[in-house]
Formats: sequence, C-alpha cells, structure tokens
Amino acid sequence: MPRPSAIAQGTALQAECERLGEWAGLGFDTSPLTLHSFVLREQRKHADASGELTSLLTNMLVAIKAIASATQKAGLGKLYGIAGSTNVQGEEVKKLDVLSNELMINMLKSSYTTCLLVSEENDELIEVEEKRRGKYIVTFDPLDRSSNIDCLVSIGTIFGIYKKQGDGQPTVNDVLKPGKEMVAAGYALYGSATMVVLSTGDGVNGFTLDPSIGEFILTHPNMKCKEKGSIYSLNGGYAETWSKGFAEYIRTRKDPEPGKKIMEQRYVGSMVADVHNILLNGGIFLYPATAAAPNGKLRLLYECNPMAYIIEQAGGLATTGKERILDIQPTTIHQRAPVILGSKLDVEEALGYLNKYD
Ligand code: AHM
Ligand code: MG
Repeated sequence: MPRPSAIAQGTALQAECERLGEWAGLGFDTSPLTLHSFVLREQRKHADASGELTSLLTNMLVAIKAIASATQKAGLGKLYGIAGSTNVQGEEVKKLDVLSNELMINMLKSSYTTCLLVSEENDELIEVEEKRRGKYIVTFDPLDRSSNIDCLVSIGTIFGIYKKQGDGQPTVNDVLKPGKEMVAAGYALYGSATMVVLSTGDGVNGFTLDPSIGEFILTHPNMKCKEKGSIYSLNGGYAETWSKGFAEYIRTRKDPEPGKKIMEQRYVGSMVADVHNILLNGGIFLYPATAAAPNGKLRLLYECNPMAYIIEQAGGLATTGKERILDIQPTTIHQRAPVILGSKLDVEEALGYLNKYD
C-alpha cells in the first residue's frame, strides 16, 4: 500500500486535532489566523515585498502586548500617577506613558526597519541610529488618553506607518507627508480585551489578543463602517464654543426634523475607544475646533491620520469640516486638526450643516 503524502498526513492530523479539540470541549480553533501569519499572507500579494513591514509589525506587537500587560497590572505595579515630567503639550506624564513610549521606541528601533519615529511624548523627531536603520517611518501615540488610566477606562495606542522615499539621509521632510501616503495604520485598544485593528491599505481587520497563548487572532475580518449609524460621539462640554453649523448639527441629532431618527450620544473620552465604537456600530465621532483649541485638540500625525485611514479603508469618511484629513499637508510634527469621522452618510450630513451655516 502506498504511504500517504506529507500533505495528506498533515490534513489528517489537523482534522484529528479539530476533532479532539471539540471532543475535549476546549473550544480551541486549531488553525487560527494570527496577526503575524496574516501580515505574511498580505506580504505574498506584493512580489517586491522585502518582509521589512512584517518585521516592523511583529516587533511593534511585542510592545503592544507589553503595554497591555502593564495596563492590567497598573494598580499592582504602582504604575499610576505622575512620573515627574511634562510632555510636549505641557501635560503631566504618567508612569505608564513613559513605559509605553520606551517600549514602542525600543521595539521599533530593534526591528531594524525604521529610520524616523514621531511620538506624542517626544518634542523632537526621533532619529534611529544608522546601524539599525530601515526604510520605514512610524508616527505614534504610545498611550492615548492616559488620564483615563486611574479610573480603569479603556485606553489605546495609535500608529501610522510611512515608507521613506529616496536614499538620502532621513529628515523631517520625510515625515511631513499627507496621511494618504501611509502604507499601514492602526490602533491597539486596551479594554476588557486587547484588540489590534490594522489596515495595510487593503481593508481593515481586527485581531483580539488571546492571553492564554499570547497571540493576536483574526476575530474581525474585513471590518466595514456602516453607511449610517445612530451614535454621535463628542464632548458636549464645549457647546458654547461651537460654530453655528456645528451647533445646529448637534441640536438636530437630539431634536431631529420630522421623519428622521434621534441619535444617541456616547462618549468615553478615549479616542481609540470612541472611534472603535463608531467603526463597529456606525455613527459619527467629532472633535471640532473650540475657542480654547482653534485647530481642534487631536494631533494630525499620530491621532487624526491613522484613525482617518482606518475609517476610510472601512468605507467611511474623515474630514476637518473643510478638507479630507488624509489630504492635509503637515507643516509641523505635532500639529493639530479638527476631526469629523465615521459613517459616510452621517459625515456628509454634518458637512451639509457646516456648509449651510458657517
Ligand atoms: P491625549 O492625547 O492628551 O491623552 O488626549 C487625547 C484624547 C483623545 O483620546 C480624546 O478623543 C480626547 O483627548 C478627549 O478630549 P476632551 O477631554 O477634551 O473631550
Ligand atoms: Mg493622545
């Protein structure tokens, strides 16, 4: 009798594992698609891919797993509280911010794939030393909305990835590129579970960390932002400072014209949690210009752009109210931008009010 081929043996083994997993009631998926395998699979679609982006993401995931672990142990590890310095925006830096920032910088540098980094926590551009340089540039907010740490509210890491053009020495001009030039972007959400939502320019996929095996597993393939939602997400505390168009848009969410549905407000105050909610359930997230912040509060390079990229890749829209977020030509690395993003029809409706009244 001929011996079964290796493939046939493998298939039989897999079927047996699946049977045993089921039989034991363990609920194990015996062929999960990990984030690492997913990126390798994506890489195969590009004949000229060198594997550098895969190495970058793999190393960054180590930082994300370590941040997830640290956020869960924050109380035990006494990682709450002030670390004793202030960041670029003049805010007090928490211990977890410092830790997350160091993890991101160190893991990105040691991936040997990056040449420049921009972090919310660092005033200046971070240059990777020549011997560890690669062709990628990463902009990131290592731990967004750190003030939510103390009350155990969800927080996140946001990142955008660009490829440096040309062979010259990396300079700030390599970073000051419109968001539409990103090659990948995403965020990690540290909530009741840890999730990474990622786009490499071909749709959006969500991966949940299985802590028992320490791997991100594809749980939300091909995520789409509904065309129309029923949630609006913003800080109503600044109502006094809104433009007429903006105020009218929000007023008509609560008191809609005949035939239109009321929208409900949901606001965590952590951009990652609020945008994730809009991505999953549809609706609109808004952080407009206010009297105190005439360009809005959120930072273009590592907050607005990556989120705009994810939402657009999922079929939604992202605008300042005047222009597409991903078209903005940045002039400084920490600049801010107003942001309105989410379901296509909701964003278009908001723009209608801004055009009519402002
Ligand atoms: P941070 O980067 O200084 O932590 O602030 C960013 C956060 C976002 O996560 C969130 O969308 C926004 O600030 C909330 O601001 P506000 O408290 O003004 O509503
Ligand atoms: Mg932030």
